[in-house]
Amino acid sequence: MTSMNTAHLPPGPAPMPVVGNALQFRRDPLSFVRGVQRAYGDIATIHMGAFPLILCSRPEHVRSILVENARNFTNREFAANLRRTLGDGLLTTDGDFHRQQRRLVQPAFHKKRVESYAGIMLQHTHALLETWRPSAEIDILGAMQALTMRIVAKALFDVDVQREAPELGQAFTDVIENPVGLPFSLRGLPIDLPFTPYHKHMAGLRTLDAYVFGLIARRRAEGRDVGDIVSMLLRAQEEGASMTDQQVRDQTMTLFAAGHETTANALTWTFYLLSEHPDVREKLLAELVDVLAGRDPTADDLPNLPYLDAVVTESMRVFPPAWTQGRYAQGEFELEGYRFPAGTTVMVSQWVIHHLPDIWGDPAIFRPERWSETHGRKIPQGAYFPFGAGPRICIGMPFAQMEARLLLATILQRFSPQLVPGWPVVPRPRVTLRPKYGIRMSLEPTRLPALARR
Ligand code: HEM
Repeated sequence: MTSMNTAHLPPGPAPMPVVGNALQFRRDPLSFVRGVQRAYGDIATIHMGAFPLILCSRPEHVRSILVENARNFTNREFAANLRRTLGDGLLTTDGDFHRQQRRLVQPAFHKKRVESYAGIMLQHTHALLETWRPSAEIDILGAMQALTMRIVAKALFDVDVQREAPELGQAFTDVIENPVGLPFSLRGLPIDLPFTPYHKHMAGLRTLDAYVFGLIARRRAEGRDVGDIVSMLLRAQEEGASMTDQQVRDQTMTLFAAGHETTANALTWTFYLLSEHPDVREKLLAELVDVLAGRDPTADDLPNLPYLDAVVTESMRVFPPAWTQGRYAQGEFELEGYRFPAGTTVMVSQWVIHHLPDIWGDPAIFRPERWSETHGRKIPQGAYFPFGAGPRICIGMPFAQMEARLLLATILQRFSPQLVPGWPVVPRPRVTLRPKYGIRMSLEPTRLPALARR
Protein backbone atom coordinates (compact mmCIF):
# COMPACT_ATOMS: atom_id res chain seq x y z
CA MET A 1 0.00 0.00 0.00
CA THR A 2 1.19 3.54 -0.65
CA SER A 3 1.38 6.04 2.19
CA MET A 4 -1.22 8.76 2.27
CA ASN A 5 -1.49 12.30 3.44
CA THR A 6 -4.10 11.81 6.13
CA ALA A 7 -4.77 15.56 6.44
CA HIS A 8 -7.42 15.34 3.73
CA LEU A 9 -9.23 12.23 4.78
CA PRO A 10 -12.91 12.16 5.72
CA PRO A 11 -13.59 12.44 9.46
CA GLY A 12 -13.66 9.38 11.69
CA PRO A 13 -13.02 8.07 15.20
CA ALA A 14 -9.69 9.13 16.73
CA PRO A 15 -7.05 6.45 16.08
CA MET A 16 -4.98 4.97 18.90
CA PRO A 17 -1.21 4.78 18.47
CA VAL A 18 -0.03 1.86 16.30
CA VAL A 19 -3.35 0.00 16.15
CA GLY A 20 -5.55 2.90 15.05
CA ASN A 21 -9.19 1.79 15.41
CA ALA A 22 -8.44 -1.85 14.71
CA LEU A 23 -9.17 -3.08 18.23
CA GLN A 24 -12.54 -1.35 18.38
CA PHE A 25 -13.34 -2.74 14.95
CA ARG A 26 -12.36 -6.29 15.90
CA ARG A 27 -14.19 -6.20 19.23
CA ASP A 28 -17.61 -5.57 17.72
CA PRO A 29 -17.48 -4.91 13.98
CA LEU A 30 -21.25 -4.62 13.53
CA SER A 31 -21.85 -1.93 16.16
CA PHE A 32 -18.63 -0.22 15.24
CA VAL A 33 -19.33 0.33 11.53
CA ARG A 34 -22.91 1.42 12.16
CA GLY A 35 -21.71 3.73 14.94
CA VAL A 36 -19.11 5.28 12.65
CA GLN A 37 -21.70 5.91 9.94
CA ARG A 38 -24.09 7.47 12.46
CA ALA A 39 -21.43 9.68 13.99
CA TYR A 40 -19.50 10.75 10.90
CA GLY A 41 -21.96 10.38 8.04
CA ASP A 42 -21.80 9.29 4.43
CA ILE A 43 -18.06 8.89 4.18
CA ALA A 44 -15.75 8.24 7.11
CA THR A 45 -12.23 7.08 7.88
CA ILE A 46 -11.39 4.09 10.05
CA HIS A 47 -7.71 3.50 10.78
CA MET A 48 -6.64 -0.13 10.57
CA GLY A 49 -3.21 0.32 12.12
CA ALA A 50 -1.51 3.02 10.09
CA PHE A 51 -3.73 2.47 7.05
CA PRO A 52 -6.94 4.34 6.47
CA LEU A 53 -10.01 2.39 5.42
CA ILE A 54 -12.74 4.56 3.92
CA LEU A 55 -16.24 3.54 4.97
CA CYS A 56 -18.57 4.56 2.12
CA SER A 57 -22.20 4.46 3.12
CA ARG A 58 -24.37 5.79 0.31
CA PRO A 59 -26.09 3.76 -2.44
CA GLU A 60 -24.29 5.89 -5.04
CA HIS A 61 -20.97 4.80 -3.50
CA VAL A 62 -21.96 1.17 -4.00
CA ARG A 63 -22.73 1.92 -7.64
CA SER A 64 -19.51 3.85 -8.15
CA ILE A 65 -17.20 1.32 -6.46
CA LEU A 66 -18.75 -2.02 -7.38
CA VAL A 67 -20.28 -1.18 -10.76
CA GLU A 68 -19.24 1.99 -12.59
CA ASN A 69 -15.54 1.97 -11.65
CA ALA A 70 -15.26 -1.72 -10.85
CA ARG A 71 -11.99 -2.08 -12.77
CA ASN A 72 -10.32 0.45 -10.50
CA PHE A 73 -11.45 -1.35 -7.35
CA THR A 74 -10.02 -4.81 -6.96
CA ASN A 75 -10.59 -7.22 -4.10
CA ARG A 76 -6.85 -7.71 -3.61
CA GLU A 77 -5.71 -7.17 0.03
CA PHE A 78 -9.20 -8.04 1.25
CA ALA A 79 -9.13 -11.45 -0.36
CA ALA A 80 -5.70 -12.24 1.09
CA ASN A 81 -7.10 -13.91 4.16
CA LEU A 82 -9.73 -15.88 2.28
CA ARG A 83 -7.09 -16.97 -0.19
CA ARG A 84 -5.41 -19.11 2.48
CA THR A 85 -8.50 -21.29 2.42
CA LEU A 86 -9.91 -20.94 -1.06
CA GLY A 87 -6.70 -20.43 -3.03
CA ASP A 88 -7.07 -18.74 -6.41
CA GLY A 89 -10.77 -19.34 -6.97
CA LEU A 90 -13.39 -16.95 -8.31
CA LEU A 91 -13.86 -15.08 -5.04
CA THR A 92 -10.20 -14.33 -4.48
CA THR A 93 -8.70 -13.41 -7.87
CA ASP A 94 -9.03 -10.39 -10.12
CA GLY A 95 -8.18 -9.05 -13.57
CA ASP A 96 -7.91 -11.25 -16.67
CA PHE A 97 -7.49 -14.47 -14.69
CA HIS A 98 -10.73 -13.81 -12.84
CA ARG A 99 -12.63 -12.93 -16.03
CA GLN A 100 -11.40 -16.08 -17.77
CA GLN A 101 -12.37 -18.29 -14.82
CA ARG A 102 -15.75 -16.67 -14.49
CA ARG A 103 -16.49 -17.38 -18.16
CA LEU A 104 -15.43 -20.97 -17.63
CA VAL A 105 -17.77 -21.57 -14.69
CA GLN A 106 -20.69 -19.45 -15.92
CA PRO A 107 -22.51 -22.22 -17.90
CA ALA A 108 -23.28 -24.03 -14.63
CA PHE A 109 -25.36 -20.99 -13.56
CA HIS A 110 -27.40 -20.32 -16.68
CA LYS A 111 -31.13 -20.03 -16.01
CA LYS A 112 -32.16 -23.37 -17.52
CA ARG A 113 -29.30 -25.18 -15.86
CA VAL A 114 -30.13 -23.70 -12.47
CA GLU A 115 -33.80 -24.65 -12.89
CA SER A 116 -32.71 -28.21 -13.56
CA TYR A 117 -31.32 -28.31 -9.99
CA ALA A 118 -34.82 -27.84 -8.50
CA GLY A 119 -35.39 -31.62 -8.27
CA ILE A 120 -32.19 -32.08 -6.27
CA MET A 121 -33.17 -29.24 -3.94
CA LEU A 122 -36.60 -30.77 -3.23
CA GLN A 123 -35.34 -34.33 -2.93
CA HIS A 124 -32.80 -33.47 -0.25
CA THR A 125 -35.24 -31.21 1.58
CA HIS A 126 -37.71 -34.09 1.81
CA ALA A 127 -34.97 -36.40 3.02
CA LEU A 128 -34.32 -33.92 5.84
CA LEU A 129 -38.03 -33.51 6.64
CA GLU A 130 -38.34 -37.29 6.99
CA THR A 131 -35.90 -37.07 9.91
CA TRP A 132 -37.73 -34.22 11.68
CA ARG A 133 -40.06 -35.10 14.53
CA PRO A 134 -42.84 -32.80 15.76
CA SER A 135 -41.77 -30.63 18.72
CA ALA A 136 -38.14 -31.83 18.53
CA GLU A 137 -35.57 -29.12 19.22
CA ILE A 138 -32.83 -28.66 16.67
CA ASP A 139 -30.08 -26.23 15.75
CA ILE A 140 -31.59 -24.79 12.60
CA LEU A 141 -28.25 -23.37 11.41
CA GLY A 142 -26.61 -26.81 11.53
CA ALA A 143 -29.59 -28.37 9.75
CA MET A 144 -29.58 -25.75 7.00
CA GLN A 145 -25.82 -26.02 6.55
CA ALA A 146 -25.99 -29.78 6.12
CA LEU A 147 -28.91 -29.43 3.71
CA THR A 148 -27.45 -26.67 1.52
CA MET A 149 -24.08 -28.45 1.48
CA ARG A 150 -25.70 -31.65 0.31
CA ILE A 151 -27.60 -29.76 -2.38
CA VAL A 152 -24.64 -27.83 -3.77
CA ALA A 153 -22.44 -30.95 -3.75
CA LYS A 154 -25.02 -32.94 -5.70
CA ALA A 155 -25.96 -30.13 -8.10
CA LEU A 156 -22.47 -28.93 -8.94
CA PHE A 157 -20.21 -31.92 -8.24
CA ASP A 158 -22.61 -34.85 -8.60
CA VAL A 159 -21.72 -36.35 -5.22
CA ASP A 160 -23.83 -37.13 -2.18
CA VAL A 161 -22.13 -35.84 0.97
CA GLN A 162 -24.75 -37.12 3.40
CA ARG A 163 -22.22 -39.29 5.23
CA GLU A 164 -19.46 -36.66 5.20
CA ALA A 165 -21.69 -33.62 5.88
CA PRO A 166 -21.13 -33.46 9.68
CA GLU A 167 -17.35 -33.72 9.33
CA LEU A 168 -17.15 -31.30 6.40
CA GLY A 169 -19.57 -28.89 8.10
CA GLN A 170 -17.41 -28.88 11.22
CA ALA A 171 -14.30 -28.35 9.08
CA PHE A 172 -15.88 -25.33 7.33
CA THR A 173 -16.91 -23.96 10.73
CA ASP A 174 -13.41 -24.44 12.18
CA VAL A 175 -11.89 -22.66 9.20
CA ILE A 176 -14.35 -19.75 9.29
CA GLU A 177 -14.47 -19.31 13.05
CA ASN A 178 -10.70 -19.41 13.47
CA PRO A 179 -9.30 -17.02 10.89
CA VAL A 180 -5.51 -16.95 10.76
CA GLY A 181 -3.14 -14.17 9.84
CA LEU A 182 -5.41 -11.26 10.75
CA PRO A 183 -3.47 -8.12 11.68
CA PHE A 184 -3.90 -7.04 15.32
CA SER A 185 -5.22 -10.39 16.37
CA LEU A 186 -3.50 -12.84 18.67
CA ARG A 187 -6.04 -15.53 17.93
CA GLY A 188 -4.61 -16.49 14.58
CA LEU A 189 -0.96 -16.71 15.57
CA PRO A 190 0.60 -19.82 13.99
CA ILE A 191 0.89 -21.85 17.19
CA ASP A 192 0.11 -25.39 16.20
CA LEU A 193 -1.04 -26.95 19.47
CA PRO A 194 -4.27 -28.86 19.91
CA PHE A 195 -7.14 -26.43 20.70
CA THR A 196 -5.35 -23.31 19.43
CA PRO A 197 -7.41 -21.47 16.80
CA TYR A 198 -4.57 -21.92 14.32
CA HIS A 199 -4.57 -25.68 14.83
CA LYS A 200 -8.34 -25.86 14.36
CA HIS A 201 -8.13 -23.78 11.21
CA MET A 202 -5.38 -25.92 9.69
CA ALA A 203 -7.01 -29.21 10.69
CA GLY A 204 -10.29 -28.04 9.12
CA LEU A 205 -8.48 -27.07 5.97
CA ARG A 206 -6.75 -30.47 5.75
CA THR A 207 -10.12 -32.23 6.03
CA LEU A 208 -11.61 -30.09 3.26
CA ASP A 209 -8.56 -30.49 1.05
CA ALA A 210 -8.53 -34.25 1.45
CA TYR A 211 -12.17 -34.38 0.38
CA VAL A 212 -11.88 -32.05 -2.60
CA PHE A 213 -8.61 -33.54 -3.92
CA GLY A 214 -10.17 -36.98 -3.50
CA LEU A 215 -13.17 -35.90 -5.55
CA ILE A 216 -10.95 -34.55 -8.33
CA ALA A 217 -8.88 -37.76 -8.36
CA ARG A 218 -12.06 -39.88 -8.58
CA ARG A 219 -13.42 -37.85 -11.49
CA ARG A 220 -10.13 -38.10 -13.32
CA ALA A 221 -9.88 -41.86 -12.71
CA GLU A 222 -13.44 -42.39 -13.96
CA GLY A 223 -12.41 -40.67 -17.17
CA ARG A 224 -15.99 -39.74 -18.04
CA ASP A 225 -17.73 -36.40 -18.09
CA VAL A 226 -20.70 -36.59 -15.72
CA GLY A 227 -21.71 -33.04 -16.63
CA ASP A 228 -20.71 -31.55 -13.29
CA ILE A 229 -18.37 -28.65 -12.63
CA VAL A 230 -15.38 -30.81 -11.69
CA SER A 231 -15.68 -32.64 -15.03
CA MET A 232 -16.00 -29.29 -16.76
CA LEU A 233 -12.85 -27.95 -15.11
CA LEU A 234 -10.91 -31.14 -15.86
CA ARG A 235 -12.03 -30.99 -19.47
CA ALA A 236 -10.88 -27.37 -19.69
CA GLN A 237 -7.57 -28.52 -18.25
CA GLU A 238 -7.22 -31.22 -20.90
CA GLU A 239 -8.17 -28.78 -23.64
CA GLY A 240 -5.21 -26.65 -22.67
CA ALA A 241 -6.83 -23.98 -20.47
CA SER A 242 -3.59 -24.16 -18.49
CA MET A 243 -5.29 -25.07 -15.23
CA THR A 244 -3.22 -26.85 -12.67
CA ASP A 245 -4.70 -29.43 -10.29
CA GLN A 246 -4.39 -26.81 -7.59
CA GLN A 247 -6.54 -24.41 -9.65
CA VAL A 248 -9.21 -27.06 -10.19
CA ARG A 249 -9.14 -27.59 -6.41
CA ASP A 250 -9.40 -23.85 -5.76
CA GLN A 251 -12.45 -23.36 -8.00
CA THR A 252 -14.13 -26.44 -6.57
CA MET A 253 -13.43 -25.42 -2.97
CA THR A 254 -14.68 -21.87 -3.66
CA LEU A 255 -17.97 -23.06 -5.11
CA PHE A 256 -18.38 -25.64 -2.37
CA ALA A 257 -17.84 -23.02 0.38
CA ALA A 258 -19.62 -20.06 -1.23
CA GLY A 259 -22.39 -22.34 -2.47
CA HIS A 260 -23.76 -23.40 0.88
CA GLU A 261 -22.65 -21.23 3.80
CA THR A 262 -24.39 -17.99 2.76
CA THR A 263 -27.65 -19.68 1.74
CA ALA A 264 -27.73 -21.62 5.01
CA ASN A 265 -27.38 -18.35 6.89
CA ALA A 266 -30.11 -16.68 4.83
CA LEU A 267 -32.51 -19.54 5.57
CA THR A 268 -31.60 -19.62 9.26
CA TRP A 269 -32.20 -15.90 9.69
CA THR A 270 -35.47 -16.19 7.78
CA PHE A 271 -36.76 -18.97 10.04
CA TYR A 272 -35.79 -16.88 13.04
CA LEU A 273 -37.58 -13.78 11.71
CA LEU A 274 -40.70 -15.77 10.85
CA SER A 275 -40.73 -17.23 14.34
CA GLU A 276 -40.56 -13.71 15.79
CA HIS A 277 -43.25 -12.38 13.41
CA PRO A 278 -46.18 -14.82 13.45
CA ASP A 279 -48.31 -12.34 11.46
CA VAL A 280 -45.83 -12.50 8.57
CA ARG A 281 -45.66 -16.27 8.82
CA GLU A 282 -49.46 -16.57 8.70
CA LYS A 283 -49.62 -14.34 5.64
CA LEU A 284 -46.90 -16.35 3.93
CA LEU A 285 -48.61 -19.64 4.76
CA ALA A 286 -51.85 -18.29 3.33
CA GLU A 287 -50.07 -17.54 0.05
CA LEU A 288 -48.44 -20.99 0.00
CA VAL A 289 -51.78 -22.70 0.61
CA ASP A 290 -53.42 -20.57 -2.03
CA VAL A 291 -50.87 -21.31 -4.74
CA LEU A 292 -49.51 -24.74 -3.79
CA ALA A 293 -52.17 -26.29 -1.57
CA GLY A 294 -49.59 -28.56 0.03
CA ARG A 295 -47.84 -29.77 -3.10
CA ASP A 296 -44.17 -29.20 -3.81
CA PRO A 297 -43.21 -25.87 -5.36
CA THR A 298 -41.54 -25.80 -8.77
CA ALA A 299 -39.38 -23.11 -10.35
CA ASP A 300 -42.44 -22.10 -12.41
CA ASP A 301 -44.45 -21.41 -9.23
CA LEU A 302 -42.02 -18.80 -7.94
CA PRO A 303 -43.35 -15.82 -9.95
CA ASN A 304 -46.77 -16.57 -8.40
CA LEU A 305 -45.42 -16.35 -4.85
CA PRO A 306 -44.69 -12.61 -4.43
CA TYR A 307 -44.95 -12.63 -0.64
CA LEU A 308 -42.45 -15.48 -0.37
CA ASP A 309 -40.15 -13.38 -2.53
CA ALA A 310 -40.69 -10.33 -0.30
CA VAL A 311 -40.00 -12.34 2.87
CA VAL A 312 -36.67 -13.68 1.58
CA THR A 313 -35.69 -10.27 0.18
CA GLU A 314 -36.50 -8.51 3.44
CA SER A 315 -34.73 -11.15 5.52
CA MET A 316 -31.52 -10.55 3.57
CA ARG A 317 -31.94 -6.81 4.11
CA VAL A 318 -32.19 -7.19 7.89
CA PHE A 319 -29.56 -9.94 8.18
CA PRO A 320 -27.38 -9.76 5.04
CA PRO A 321 -25.39 -13.03 4.94
CA ALA A 322 -22.53 -11.13 3.26
CA TRP A 323 -22.34 -8.16 5.61
CA THR A 324 -19.53 -6.13 4.06
CA GLN A 325 -17.32 -5.85 0.99
CA GLY A 326 -13.87 -4.33 0.76
CA ARG A 327 -11.99 -3.05 -2.25
CA TYR A 328 -8.51 -1.72 -3.00
CA ALA A 329 -8.13 1.22 -5.43
CA GLN A 330 -5.58 0.60 -8.17
CA GLY A 331 -5.66 4.21 -9.30
CA GLU A 332 -6.64 7.49 -7.68
CA PHE A 333 -10.30 8.40 -7.46
CA GLU A 334 -12.70 11.04 -6.16
CA LEU A 335 -15.67 10.58 -3.89
CA GLU A 336 -17.78 13.16 -2.02
CA GLY A 337 -15.29 15.89 -2.89
CA TYR A 338 -12.29 13.97 -1.53
CA ARG A 339 -9.41 12.94 -3.75
CA PHE A 340 -7.94 9.57 -2.79
CA PRO A 341 -4.62 8.18 -4.03
CA ALA A 342 -4.02 4.75 -5.54
CA GLY A 343 -3.74 2.16 -2.79
CA THR A 344 -6.68 3.47 -0.78
CA THR A 345 -8.89 0.77 0.68
CA VAL A 346 -12.64 1.26 0.80
CA MET A 347 -15.52 -0.60 2.40
CA VAL A 348 -19.20 -0.72 1.51
CA SER A 349 -21.21 -2.55 4.12
CA GLN A 350 -24.58 -4.19 3.56
CA TRP A 351 -25.02 -4.14 7.32
CA VAL A 352 -24.78 -0.33 7.29
CA ILE A 353 -26.49 0.55 4.01
CA HIS A 354 -29.38 -1.91 4.39
CA HIS A 355 -30.23 -0.02 7.59
CA LEU A 356 -29.92 3.65 6.62
CA PRO A 357 -32.94 5.40 8.17
CA ASP A 358 -33.32 7.98 5.38
CA ILE A 359 -33.78 5.19 2.85
CA TRP A 360 -35.69 2.58 4.81
CA GLY A 361 -37.64 4.71 7.29
CA ASP A 362 -37.90 1.97 9.89
CA PRO A 363 -34.79 -0.11 9.12
CA ALA A 364 -34.91 -2.18 12.31
CA ILE A 365 -38.37 -3.53 11.50
CA PHE A 366 -38.78 -6.74 9.51
CA ARG A 367 -41.52 -5.69 7.08
CA PRO A 368 -41.75 -7.68 3.82
CA GLU A 369 -44.54 -5.35 2.66
CA ARG A 370 -41.91 -2.70 1.88
CA TRP A 371 -41.02 -4.83 -1.17
CA SER A 372 -44.52 -4.74 -2.63
CA GLU A 373 -44.94 -3.79 -6.28
CA THR A 374 -45.42 -0.09 -5.54
CA HIS A 375 -42.99 0.43 -2.68
CA GLY A 376 -40.17 -1.80 -3.87
CA ARG A 377 -39.59 0.27 -6.98
CA LYS A 378 -38.78 3.38 -4.95
CA ILE A 379 -35.67 1.87 -3.37
CA PRO A 380 -32.60 3.45 -5.00
CA GLN A 381 -30.13 1.26 -6.85
CA GLY A 382 -27.21 0.38 -4.62
CA ALA A 383 -29.25 0.60 -1.40
CA TYR A 384 -29.85 -3.16 -1.41
CA PHE A 385 -27.03 -5.42 -2.53
CA PRO A 386 -27.00 -8.75 -0.64
CA PHE A 387 -25.34 -10.41 -3.63
CA GLY A 388 -22.91 -7.57 -4.35
CA ALA A 389 -23.14 -5.72 -7.68
CA GLY A 390 -21.34 -5.18 -10.96
CA PRO A 391 -19.01 -7.61 -12.73
CA ARG A 392 -18.32 -9.55 -9.53
CA ILE A 393 -21.94 -9.93 -8.52
CA CYS A 394 -22.52 -13.33 -6.95
CA ILE A 395 -22.39 -15.91 -9.74
CA GLY A 396 -24.55 -18.21 -7.62
CA MET A 397 -27.34 -15.65 -7.16
CA PRO A 398 -29.94 -17.43 -9.37
CA PHE A 399 -29.07 -20.71 -7.63
CA ALA A 400 -29.40 -19.20 -4.15
CA GLN A 401 -32.56 -17.24 -4.98
CA MET A 402 -34.34 -20.33 -6.23
CA GLU A 403 -32.98 -22.59 -3.50
CA ALA A 404 -34.00 -20.31 -0.62
CA ARG A 405 -37.56 -19.96 -1.96
CA LEU A 406 -38.07 -23.64 -2.82
CA LEU A 407 -36.71 -24.82 0.52
CA LEU A 408 -38.77 -22.36 2.55
CA ALA A 409 -41.98 -23.16 0.68
CA THR A 410 -41.40 -26.90 1.11
CA ILE A 411 -40.39 -26.81 4.76
CA LEU A 412 -43.01 -24.29 5.91
CA GLN A 413 -45.86 -26.36 4.57
CA ARG A 414 -44.78 -29.09 6.99
CA PHE A 415 -43.09 -27.34 9.92
CA SER A 416 -43.07 -23.86 11.44
CA PRO A 417 -39.83 -23.76 13.46
CA GLN A 418 -40.25 -21.76 16.67
CA LEU A 419 -37.40 -20.12 18.57
CA VAL A 420 -36.74 -21.90 21.86
CA PRO A 421 -37.66 -19.30 24.52
CA GLY A 422 -34.65 -17.53 25.98
CA TRP A 423 -32.23 -18.73 23.30
CA PRO A 424 -29.65 -15.96 22.74
CA VAL A 425 -29.64 -14.83 19.12
CA VAL A 426 -26.50 -12.83 18.44
CA PRO A 427 -25.28 -12.00 14.94
CA ARG A 428 -21.59 -12.70 14.54
CA PRO A 429 -19.72 -11.26 11.59
CA ARG A 430 -17.09 -13.52 10.16
CA VAL A 431 -16.75 -13.96 6.41
CA THR A 432 -20.53 -14.33 6.62
CA LEU A 433 -23.06 -13.14 9.17
CA ARG A 434 -23.82 -16.15 11.35
CA PRO A 435 -25.74 -16.49 14.60
CA LYS A 436 -23.04 -16.79 17.24
CA TYR A 437 -24.68 -19.59 19.22
CA GLY A 438 -26.59 -21.12 16.31
CA ILE A 439 -30.36 -20.87 16.63
CA ARG A 440 -32.25 -23.49 18.59
CA MET A 441 -35.76 -24.00 17.35
CA SER A 442 -38.55 -26.39 18.12
CA LEU A 443 -40.21 -28.04 15.14
CA GLU A 444 -43.87 -27.15 15.45
CA PRO A 445 -45.97 -28.89 12.80
CA THR A 446 -47.69 -26.39 10.54
CA ARG A 447 -51.41 -26.49 11.29
CA LEU A 448 -53.63 -25.20 8.57
CA PRO A 449 -56.91 -27.01 8.07
CA ALA A 450 -57.10 -25.99 4.45
CA LEU A 451 -53.65 -27.32 3.73
CA ALA A 452 -53.76 -30.50 1.67
CA ARG A 453 -51.04 -32.82 2.99
CA ARG A 454 -48.69 -34.51 0.58
C1 HEM B 1 -27.95 -16.15 -0.02
C2 HEM B 1 -26.91 -16.69 -0.62
C3 HEM B 1 -25.71 -15.92 -1.13
C4 HEM B 1 -25.27 -14.65 -0.83
C5 HEM B 1 -25.88 -13.65 0.14
C6 HEM B 1 -24.07 -14.42 -1.60
C7 HEM B 1 -23.35 -13.25 -1.60
C8 HEM B 1 -22.28 -12.99 -2.43
C9 HEM B 1 -21.61 -11.71 -2.56
C10 HEM B 1 -21.97 -10.44 -1.79
C11 HEM B 1 -20.62 -11.85 -3.47
C12 HEM B 1 -19.70 -10.75 -3.98
C13 HEM B 1 -18.39 -10.74 -3.27
C14 HEM B 1 -17.54 -9.56 -3.76
O1 HEM B 1 -17.94 -8.80 -4.64
O2 HEM B 1 -16.45 -9.41 -3.23
C15 HEM B 1 -20.64 -13.24 -3.90
C16 HEM B 1 -19.76 -13.78 -4.81
C17 HEM B 1 -19.74 -15.10 -5.15
N1 HEM B 1 -20.67 -16.07 -4.81
FE1 HEM B 1 -22.28 -15.79 -3.67
N2 HEM B 1 -23.80 -15.56 -2.33
C18 HEM B 1 -24.78 -16.50 -2.09
C19 HEM B 1 -24.89 -17.75 -2.64
C20 HEM B 1 -23.99 -18.32 -3.50
C21 HEM B 1 -24.12 -19.64 -4.12
C22 HEM B 1 -25.31 -20.58 -3.92
C23 HEM B 1 -22.99 -19.84 -4.85
C24 HEM B 1 -22.59 -21.02 -5.70
C25 HEM B 1 -23.33 -22.08 -5.91
C26 HEM B 1 -22.17 -18.65 -4.73
C27 HEM B 1 -20.94 -18.47 -5.31
C28 HEM B 1 -20.26 -17.26 -5.37
C29 HEM B 1 -19.02 -17.07 -6.09
C30 HEM B 1 -18.24 -18.13 -6.83
C31 HEM B 1 -18.70 -15.71 -5.96
C32 HEM B 1 -17.50 -14.98 -6.57
C33 HEM B 1 -17.94 -14.35 -7.86
C34 HEM B 1 -16.87 -13.52 -8.52
O3 HEM B 1 -16.11 -12.84 -7.84
O4 HEM B 1 -16.81 -13.54 -9.76
N3 HEM B 1 -22.81 -17.75 -3.91
N4 HEM B 1 -21.66 -13.90 -3.28
